[in-house]
Amino acid sequence: MISLADYLQLLPKTELHCHLTSTMRATTLQELAARDGVALWTEDAEHLFDFADLVDFLHGWRIAHEVLRTGDDIARVAWEGVEDAVRAGNLRYREYYVNPQYFARRSSPLSYAEVVDAVIAGLRRAERDFGVGFRVVVAINRRESGEAAVDLVREMIAHPRPEVVGIGQDDLTPENTEDPLRFVEAYALAGAHGLRRTAHVGETPSADPENVRAAIEVLGCDRIDHGYRVVDDPAVLALARQRGIGFATTPWSTTICSGWTLDETHRIRRMVDAGLPVSVSTDDALFFRTDLGREYREGLTALGLDAAAAQRIALAGIDMAFCSDAEKQRLRAEFRAAFLALDALLAP
Ligand code: ADE
Ligand code: ZN
Repeated sequence: MISLADYLQLLPKTELHCHLTSTMRATTLQELAARDGVALWTEDAEHLFDFADLVDFLHGWRIAHEVLRTGDDIARVAWEGVEDAVRAGNLRYREYYVNPQYFARRSSPLSYAEVVDAVIAGLRRAERDFGVGFRVVVAINRRESGEAAVDLVREMIAHPRPEVVGIGQDDLTPENTEDPLRFVEAYALAGAHGLRRTAHVGETPSADPENVRAAIEVLGCDRIDHGYRVVDDPAVLALARQRGIGFATTPWSTTICSGWTLDETHRIRRMVDAGLPVSVSTDDALFFRTDLGREYREGLTALGLDAAAAQRIALAGIDMAFCSDAEKQRLRAEFRAAFLALDALLAP
């Protein structure tokens, strides 16, 4: 017999919402920073990952990109992140946000192709070692202009890779807003070239639920990252339900980024209760001292969700993934077999 915590830990999982830089080990961050003399956001190692809010966290998160100097650094971090997530929470498939603009705009730049090829090399090696499939989603840096976002999508089109399947976003605008409409042109171009689309919207108390509507209706998103404010506007909620939009939520990061408590009144729980397809991810495991096992074990339990809900969440992650139907079928079969075995072990 196993406890519910062990069950949630062992449950096979997808992860659709994680930023590659945030899958870095704390030890690797510190090692690479020391190697290159990169000053991190604080010298106080004990409080390195204490952030007041989303804006405070994003400051550290931007600096963390600086330690990834070479393609080998990026490939190493990609591989280590998979090894850790398999151990921490039985990860079976993952999608990554990668932001090439951070690597292009610095004194030792890496090109778009250098960045994505390094990510793919690290993740392919991890796939061979751990059997974890993956796709890459290029993230538009919202600090940059709408024109720069269009240029980024043009780079994607000029350097197609089968592993790179869509666009998303990270960071906030220079005004610290979401402003999805700033990137209408980039999303239209991506859509016209068959790229999948997702957006970070409705993440914080100050984010307008209308941003969720704009991501669906104007940007043409298949999926939404965060999106918690959807439950605050019945019309937007109805739209999301009607379109079958999936939400890639990240329980732990909301305790810092959104300032919310993980309990049965949390918006993620309300999204589940409203029948929306909800998946669970870490977002930024390094920075929020979380991992995929913890998101299920402690996060779902705090939200008042049980083993059956955890299974539905794991399967929703397959449904809303940007991989092929054949891969989804394989994952569903693997997950269902594991669920049966785990259900037989779960203490009554
Ligand atoms: N980049 C990394 N994590 C993020 C988040 N939660 N919101 C916006 N940008 C991010
Ligand atoms: Zn995110």
